[in-house]
Amino acid sequence: MSQDASGQISTVMQEERLFPPSTAFAKAAHIGSLEQYETLWKQAAEDSEGFWGKLAEEELHWFKPFTKILDWKAPLAQWFVDGKTNVSYNCLDVHLTSDRRDKTAILWEGEPGDKRSLSYAELHEQVCKFANVLREKGIGPGDVVSIYMPMVPELAIAMLACARVGAVHSVIFGGFSSEAIADRNNDASAKMQITADGGWRRGKELPLKATVDEALKKSPSVETCIVLRRTESAVEMKEGRDFWWDELMDSASTECPAAELDSEHPLFILYTSGSTGKPKGIKHTTAGYNLYTKVTSRWVFDLQEDDIYWCTADCGWITGHSYIVYGPLANGATIVMYEGAPNSPDEGRFWEIVERYGVTIFYTAPTAIRAFIKWGDDFVNRADLSSLRLLGTVGEGINPEAWMWYHRVIGGERCPIVDTWWQTETGGIMMSPLPGAIPTKPGSCTKPLPGISPEIVDEAGEAVEPGQGGWLVITRPWPGMLRGIWGDSKRYEEQYWSSVPGKYLCGDNARCDADGYYWIMGRIDDVLNVSGHRLSTIEIESALVSHPDVAEAAAVGRPDELKGEAIAVFVTLGNAEPDEATRNALKQHVRKEIGALAQPDDIHFTGSLPKTRSGKIMRRLLRDIASGKETVGDTSTLEDYSVLAKLRQDEES
Ligand code: WT7
Repeated sequence: MSQDASGQISTVMQEERLFPPSTAFAKAAHIGSLEQYETLWKQAAEDSEGFWGKLAEEELHWFKPFTKILDWKAPLAQWFVDGKTNVSYNCLDVHLTSDRRDKTAILWEGEPGDKRSLSYAELHEQVCKFANVLREKGIGPGDVVSIYMPMVPELAIAMLACARVGAVHSVIFGGFSSEAIADRNNDASAKMQITADGGWRRGKELPLKATVDEALKKSPSVETCIVLRRTESAVEMKEGRDFWWDELMDSASTECPAAELDSEHPLFILYTSGSTGKPKGIKHTTAGYNLYTKVTSRWVFDLQEDDIYWCTADCGWITGHSYIVYGPLANGATIVMYEGAPNSPDEGRFWEIVERYGVTIFYTAPTAIRAFIKWGDDFVNRADLSSLRLLGTVGEGINPEAWMWYHRVIGGERCPIVDTWWQTETGGIMMSPLPGAIPTKPGSCTKPLPGISPEIVDEAGEAVEPGQGGWLVITRPWPGMLRGIWGDSKRYEEQYWSSVPGKYLCGDNARCDADGYYWIMGRIDDVLNVSGHRLSTIEIESALVSHPDVAEAAAVGRPDELKGEAIAVFVTLGNAEPDEATRNALKQHVRKEIGALAQPDDIHFTGSLPKTRSGKIMRRLLRDIASGKETVGDTSTLEDYSVLAKLRQDEES
């Protein structure tokens, strides 16, 4: 462990386990050996433009070929200049001339148990009809369409229909409030709103239309609202503004040629939470995003023709955009889509779905995995999971012990796990094992994908010593990268490109070990500084989670006169008692696992941790509680306000 002076981060974690892909998996995989991966990566590193240019020609349909692969005037990139294509064409029309025409595109299940399936031909027809509805309501290239819907096939249909006519979609997660919708609608000047009467979540109805009605009072740019019937409950329809989806579709034609769009035509805006509270609309465009999500889906998930692929994310997040809709459909895959909660009617719901549809590839988030562990193995063991061949995770670091549980209990020790590191901003997966090629280490996202060049630097922008932690930057543009923040080019440049000039600053810390494996250490803002050592949150948390009594943990710093910062941890227990004995046992455990320096000073027991609506632990709020401060930052992305109130109450008592 080294003394810190220059922004480097010490590592205290030791993880020696290594899981190579089985021979059988490697043999059938698209990329089946480490040598093959390394050759591809080198090729891409030596001639990045040649690499992406060739893929773009092979993988996308071009109405008009591009004349230049990349125009890079940092921080502005234009990929496949002058080319004309269409994302909906590349996800649908290209499959209609082969056997894929009648292949199932979407296997859908609603929370109440209703089921639907759509072939590629049927999905294409629905998308064409809805695209005509959009056109008829005056939506054309560049118009922003705001989508606030439950996880039903029509959500994907609406997204693809926007792409077909060149409208820019802004999908807003169905759990957000009316204020959040209005903020986003106003920031983007949305012209149309698409919603549903309601949706189902844990047996209750989400009143989506009523929430939209409130939002539209404060969204003057929205002229039209289209409402899907899902729950059939009574809603108000405003004359002249609101229209029923089914009524408009009845008379729509099934013929709708895809608009021939410029490679850099905007495809969507997706809002992520900035630290300032003002929503930050990440902009993605057409050809580069289409190509990047297509090839990364195939590399990382090793998609084969007969796979049944299930990503449990919501389309309201980037994971849903890239790895439910655009990436898998561009590959002609069969995807599973589920509307509701994982614990409805009980905690075995996901495993029933895996068994029912014979899911082969399963992609979820660490927060969900920690919940499955807490709920107990019995719910899992009730179902036959033998169809699974590959597992994935995304969204946060996965604690090695949670990784091991996923491997053992869900994967039956036979499925590789792809721990995929990426961001809303990156458009697609940046670092991940290629499951047939790269041996995995629990807790590491392993290596960069071909065409991606990461580097770990200190605050001066200099590369750190191998093995040291520091800022993770990406040194070269890639086709899936964001093209800016909607309406705020200054913030784009400042936030991502100015700390280390010319390189993309992702905002995470990481280290790269002697084998060239990357370990994400958490957000830069979350680092703890203890007696001059900078420690990463995930390492302390993983040490806690490796104790059998701990279900979940979050580590934060609080001011300390002597040490600079003291370590405060918030712990959710399994079955143990929240008493002094457990507290001492946990302190000793961390000391033994990763050393005295990382031993927590304060241990707070809590029934649950504050999380974002996408399931990430909000350490920023815990930091305020640990140091006895009022919370001043933005809390609008908080999933459950009562968790925060409860934590404060516990502190006061
Ligand atoms: C941030 C991006 C990417 C889709 C979902 C989240 C964290 C994401 C991992 C991973 C460690 C991860 C990072 C990143 N993160 N995946 N595999 N290991 N951390 O998208 O909301 O834009 O969040 O999530 O901190 O920067 P997002």
